Amino acid sequence: MDMPAIFDHYPATPEVEVLPSYFPIPGFGILPVNAFVLKSAEPVLVDTGLWALSDGFMDRLSSVIDLGDLRWLWLTHNDQDHIGSLHRIIEAAPGLKVITTFLGLGKMSLFRPFPLDRVFLLNPGQSIDVGDRKLTSIRPPTYDAPETTGFYDHKSGILFSSDCFGALMSKPAVNAAEISSGDLRDGLVTWTKADSPWLHMIDRDLFTKTINYVRGLSPMIILSSHLPAAHGMTDTLLQYVSAVPEEKPFIAPDQQAFMSMLKMGAGNPVT
Ligand SMILES: [Fe+2]
Ligand SMILES: [Fe+2]
Repeated sequence: MDMPAIFDHYPATPEVEVLPSYFPIPGFGILPVNAFVLKSAEPVLVDTGLWALSDGFMDRLSSVIDLGDLRWLWLTHNDQDHIGSLHRIIEAAPGLKVITTFLGLGKMSLFRPFPLDRVFLLNPGQSIDVGDRKLTSIRPPTYDAPETTGFYDHKSGILFSSDCFGALMSKPAVNAAEISSGDLRDGLVTWTKADSPWLHMIDRDLFTKTINYVRGLSPMIILSSHLPAAHGMTDTLLQYVSAVPEEKPFIAPDQQAFMSMLKMGAGNPVT
């Protein structure tokens, strides 16, 4: 795969549809970029995919749910791989509000003024009722943007973890269990230390507390923005993430390495 590609949606559970794309990273493999539709009484879209694939994303989203039925968009954070169709969805789903944080609203407003009556600010630890269940906002153990929130669905036992628990992969999959344990560990460690380089600098005991908070939730399923659906793999994923602070920090290719990659035929996935 040398270009971003969108794949068909698949059910993680009867209530949750995954809208997957993949973004190739030359020399490192492919990164899943997932959005989700939670079919709660008040339906929730989680993130909005890649801008470059927005047409395909809107088509697939429309095949999962009537956009007019969407009541909430949980925007985990404002990175480009999460906001690709944000403004199209705001226009297409007039009854929808965006769940974000004060910082998230600020970042959205840097792009263009954001309608303030279309946001609902929710801090980590606070909950929202979406008709048939409570969703509790959490700050995941790892993240790359200060506005990041994931959430725990108390009815289904699913943790939506944003960038946390993401992994670089060699080929697409619909279940994280399809990835060999060695590949999953390596891909998760590389992604995590690249995405959250501050992990090497923080107090280990405090980090362990964030890990234990997730362990205490005992999610049955983890739905990361950057990993296929992970059923019954919470202990494994926590074990891999826990090890990251002790790993060697990620060093990205510099200009010399980049030139070598280009000579070897690595293309730019966005051109
Ligand atoms: Fe991110
Ligand atoms: Fe991301």
